[in-house]
Amino acid sequence: MRKKIIAGNWKMNNNKAETAALIQSLTPFNFSAEVRVMVAPAFTHLVQAEALTQGSRIEVLAQNMNAAESGAYTGEISATMLSSIGIQKVILGHSERRAFYNETDESLKAKVATAITHDMEIVFCFGEELDQRKAGSHFEVVKTQLETALFDLTPSQWSKVILAYEPVWAIGTGETATPEQAQEMHAYIRDLIASNYDQALEDSVSILYGGSVKPANAQSIFSQPDVDGGLIGGASLNADDFKAIIQSA
Ligand code: 13P
Repeated sequence: MRKKIIAGNWKMNNNKAETAALIQSLTPFNFSAEVRVMVAPAFTHLVQAEALTQGSRIEVLAQNMNAAESGAYTGEISATMLSSIGIQKVILGHSERRAFYNETDESLKAKVATAITHDMEIVFCFGEELDQRKAGSHFEVVKTQLETALFDLTPSQWSKVILAYEPVWAIGTGETATPEQAQEMHAYIRDLIASNYDQALEDSVSILYGGSVKPANAQSIFSQPDVDGGLIGGASLNADDFKAIIQSA
């Protein structure tokens, strides 16, 4: 049985004090044992977040990392650096990284490999753009994204992967995929996993939906049979909204 997962991607928002306040308003919250809750603050606040979440069930993840072990990559953060402050989880492949920082399926494959080497759990983001959805190529786009970056992992390595389908046209736009559109894509992804691996893996992989999830629409999306929770942007910056979303899982 897959647990529900609600992850807040705080992107490039909140200073140190604001991040602390947001975490401190989440840690006393008593959410269901069937739900995992994660938050992804900025790199500069990860040490603080790790300390403030000690003793709670809130898990902290990074928003990105470099594929290289170390070296002359000014401004970058390695898996070893994250591990050294107790962070063993990372978001990879967010559409904003793909769009603004030229991340590709190939470069993400390298990041995935590094994360696996360091025994890190990965929230792997992917999804089509608006013109691709309009052209009807969204299934093909998603297939290529997953095949390139993930489909040479072994089944046991997949235990470290959480998928996050985020149609780019629904991110920060207020336009959400309908529950049916989310379910259709998530079911397609499970079929892809089954045809590349087997039924056991198909059943075990968690697939989150992301893109304008709010308290008002969360329950209808999360109740779809192949949707295992959400990756939440804007609404995760407001403690009350994020808690309401967690309660909808
Ligand atoms: P919004 O919830 O703000 O649309 O962002 C979604 C997202 O990009 C989460 O990673």
